[in-house]
Amino acid sequence: MGEKQWGSRIGFLLATAGAAIGLGNLWKFPYLMGENGGFTFLVVYLIFVLILGLPCMMLEMSLGRYTGRDPIQSYKMVNPKAKIVGIFGVLAPFIILSYYSVIGGWLIKYVVSYVTTFNAPADFGTFIASPTTVIWHFIFMAMVIYVCYKGIGGIEKASKIMLPALFVLLIIIIFRSVSLKGSMEGIKFIFAPKKGFSLASVNAALGQVFYSLSLCMGITITYGSYLSKKENIPKSCAVVAGMDTLLAVLAGIAIFPAVFVFGLEPGQGPGLVFVTLPKVFGAMSGGSIFAIAFFILMFFAALTSAIALLEVVVSFAIDSWGWSRNKSVAVMGIAVAILGIPSALSSGLLADVTILNYSVFDFIGMISDNILLPIGGILMCYFIVWKFDITKLTDEMEQGCPNFKIKKLWIASIKYVAPILLIIVTVSGFVGVYHSITGM
Ligand code: TRP
Repeated sequence: MGEKQWGSRIGFLLATAGAAIGLGNLWKFPYLMGENGGFTFLVVYLIFVLILGLPCMMLEMSLGRYTGRDPIQSYKMVNPKAKIVGIFGVLAPFIILSYYSVIGGWLIKYVVSYVTTFNAPADFGTFIASPTTVIWHFIFMAMVIYVCYKGIGGIEKASKIMLPALFVLLIIIIFRSVSLKGSMEGIKFIFAPKKGFSLASVNAALGQVFYSLSLCMGITITYGSYLSKKENIPKSCAVVAGMDTLLAVLAGIAIFPAVFVFGLEPGQGPGLVFVTLPKVFGAMSGGSIFAIAFFILMFFAALTSAIALLEVVVSFAIDSWGWSRNKSVAVMGIAVAILGIPSALSSGLLADVTILNYSVFDFIGMISDNILLPIGGILMCYFIVWKFDITKLTDEMEQGCPNFKIKKLWIASIKYVAPILLIIVTVSGFVGVYHSITGM
């Protein structure tokens, strides 16, 4: 008790931004931008942040503060039938954390390897196929558990250190990358308006807004439930979304110039970070120093997001089951760690195990990102907008934001725009899964 509120505004903002800023910003967004028409993609992305991302975030944050509870209790207070949305909002973080933590473990391994040998592990494929990945995954989970065990204050403290550090490291890397001769190619790859923008790009932008802002996973509800009534919700959401987008764009400026200078293929995801970039660092003078900086940066981004994911599940056990924080952190943390074992082994011992043509690791990611999330989002809009007195939330927002001028726009957005866009994301998620199962 006595810890149900954030200690400071900056702590709250950094923790919420830390939840949003994650691997998606660093290894997905820049590539999406480069492949989908550069600047055009950025503009479309920004539009979706404004008409979908921000309104949904405001909805979640005001709901959290209105109820002061975990996602499941929050939705139950909205409408007893809406409990299902809360269940999605707790289940998704639980599942996501189990694979996010495996990647967190790889990142620790890379930091350790660069610090001790000035080199990346000999071969990424060999490393992830070895069972030692389970140990690194446990080490990462232990850190997440430790911070959550320290409670809201611990989360705040960790975010206040890691998020600014992350920005500083990124700026240092940008300077190095842009100062390389021939770096303009990479800048052009990300920014130059060019062909490649299609309907699929619109869809990719939509999905990315959702994932990048960590929407519909109970994060913003949970973090909002610790928020003081004095805080301005629309403004806070704008700050968080702004930082998230800024970081994603900066990540592109840090990564792609160097990739092009050394004649490597641009890419995304684990391949970019664990295979391509070590080659870049290997070829660059002073590369191992920048590699250490880069992998620490990635690690911080992953850790602040992972903390948020565990906190949702923990706050659920505290509020809904009446557990103590210590018990919730221990039981939930260990449960996630165990659930992550198959993902950690999915490139090694379990490489032959596939579920619907996916490796265990990809299957877990696919279920949570493409199915649970958008469906949760649609249900969220449905229950809140159609089955609940929305003025309770606008009243909530007016506390701390007395002239909430965009009230009508906001309601229109969550009533019409967001559900339509979410249905598009869900359908395309299913289509993607269908293609993958049928082998094309
Ligand atoms: N936003 C994170 C990223 O960009 C990923 C993410 C999605 C997430 N939902 C989340 C992180 C919930 C923490 C909590 O990588």
